[in-house]
Amino acid sequence: MKAICPGSFDPVTRGHLDIIQRTDRLFDDVVVAVGRNASKNYLFTPEQRVEMLEYACRGTSATITIIDGLLVDFCAANDIDVIVKGLRYASDFEFELQMAQMNHALSGIETAMLPTASKFSHISSTMVRQIARLGGDVSAFVPDGVADIMRHFLSGE
Ligand code: PNS
Repeated sequence: MKAICPGSFDPVTRGHLDIIQRTDRLFDDVVVAVGRNASKNYLFTPEQRVEMLEYACRGTSATITIIDGLLVDFCAANDIDVIVKGLRYASDFEFELQMAQMNHALSGIETAMLPTASKFSHISSTMVRQIARLGGDVSAFVPDGVADIMRHFLSGE
């Protein structure tokens, strides 16, 4: 079975990586897809988000890509069987349930939801972005090496 872990990954966090690694153990193939969430303003470009994911996922068999259109269209074109999402708390569930039902209505694809490991449940990309913008240290919240890549991107070098 082939799974996809879609998200904004702006930037990838330790919680995201944990979900990707667990998905990698559960399924034969895993695609990690940087998608567009129409309601978000991004800090990093899709290409920068892919670069951080490639570094973070180097110990997994995941392939990293960008999706421009609908997630369900990408899944159909790439023979993906299941969408995998991580859930931190109830507010995640309400949004993810609606998205899973909408994706199912669009194409019949199933969504599997994995509970985030409790040690990562306080981590969000939104807070990581805020801390990084104000010059704080985010290295405890993003995979090893990613904080350095973020600093490099944010310094505009
Ligand atoms: O990390 P996020 O921001 O919660 O990820 C949301 C994302 C990118 C997975 C979602 O917005 C998505 O699937 N975007 C691709 C476009 C699409 O299919 N939109 C309809 C979703 S019902």
